[in-house]
Amino acid sequence: MVTKIILDTDPGIDDAMAIIFAEASPDIELMAVTTVFGNATIENSTRNALYLKQKYKLKADVAQGADKPLSRAPVGATTVVHGEKGLGTVEAPELLEVEADSRPAYQYIIDALTAEPGEITLVAVGPLTNLALALAAKPEIVDLVKEVVVMGGAFGENGHRGNVSPYAEANIYDDPHAADRVFSADWPVAIIGLDVTEESFFSSEYLDQLRDDAGQVGQFIWDVSRYYLKFYCERVGLEGCHVHDPSAIAYVINPQLFTMRRGPVRVVTEGPAAGYTIQKFEQRKYMHDQWKEGGSQLVGVKVQSESLLDLYRRTIIDFSQKL
Ligand code: RIB
Ligand code: CA
Repeated sequence: MVTKIILDTDPGIDDAMAIIFAEASPDIELMAVTTVFGNATIENSTRNALYLKQKYKLKADVAQGADKPLSRAPVGATTVVHGEKGLGTVEAPELLEVEADSRPAYQYIIDALTAEPGEITLVAVGPLTNLALALAAKPEIVDLVKEVVVMGGAFGENGHRGNVSPYAEANIYDDPHAADRVFSADWPVAIIGLDVTEESFFSSEYLDQLRDDAGQVGQFIWDVSRYYLKFYCERVGLEGCHVHDPSAIAYVINPQLFTMRRGPVRVVTEGPAAGYTIQKFEQRKYMHDQWKEGGSQLVGVKVQSESLLDLYRRTIIDFSQKL
């Protein structure tokens, strides 16, 4: 079965890897790429999305989204990880032949879900601002979406906590208020956080092999990953990188790769632990419980990482042969 998705993203190096993965997969129809601030400014993140649309002749629309969080002070683009303009040392041309949709991302999402109730999965791999804006403008979308898959958060499983603060993951830290609204809404959400994305690893050798086996698309993934690997080597002490955003796409293609745990999720929105994601997964009743309203979400706690790496590799190589 082919899953129709809107990919909400802040490209971003691993976002680019995820966009290409989604386009390459025969199990996914990439209907649109909606952009958000985060790894790069909204202007750069949209230009990067349009660049990929042009380069890979994507049928997907691109719609530009939020340039800042709902209420917190903006954190600023993550240039130390993703480079000045978001794609490391690769620069999208200033002038492109393709254009963004005229609607803001949140409106695009509302219109698409309304036109095809129950058919579209929202996959969000950046700050959750666009999804929160869509929920605020049309709360009924909770019943129109097929599923919401989020790369974000860290629940302390497998020893993984924050990556930008001791307890916060970047996408959630960038807009914790939006994340709390998205996670506590009554719609089906699957969260692929650091607990699983930091368990999968694109080693330097893996990326070299992909460059050699997957033609120009393998070369492009190798090129954009150079800056990312430099960050990982110098700041994290690893010869490779974790598999963040492509893991959310892998979940859409094959959820069986992940072990998921059910329970409502809330986000700390203020103070030193802002961005901390907490799941209540036991059945106990409490006198004071602000987890009990809204939905019950799925959180990834385990991943079959060898199979995930193999899926990414096979999908990209097959795609390269069709280009
Ligand atoms: O913490 C990892 C996430 O933050 C990924 O989505 C990456 O692209 C950055 O936005
Ligand atoms: Ca991202």
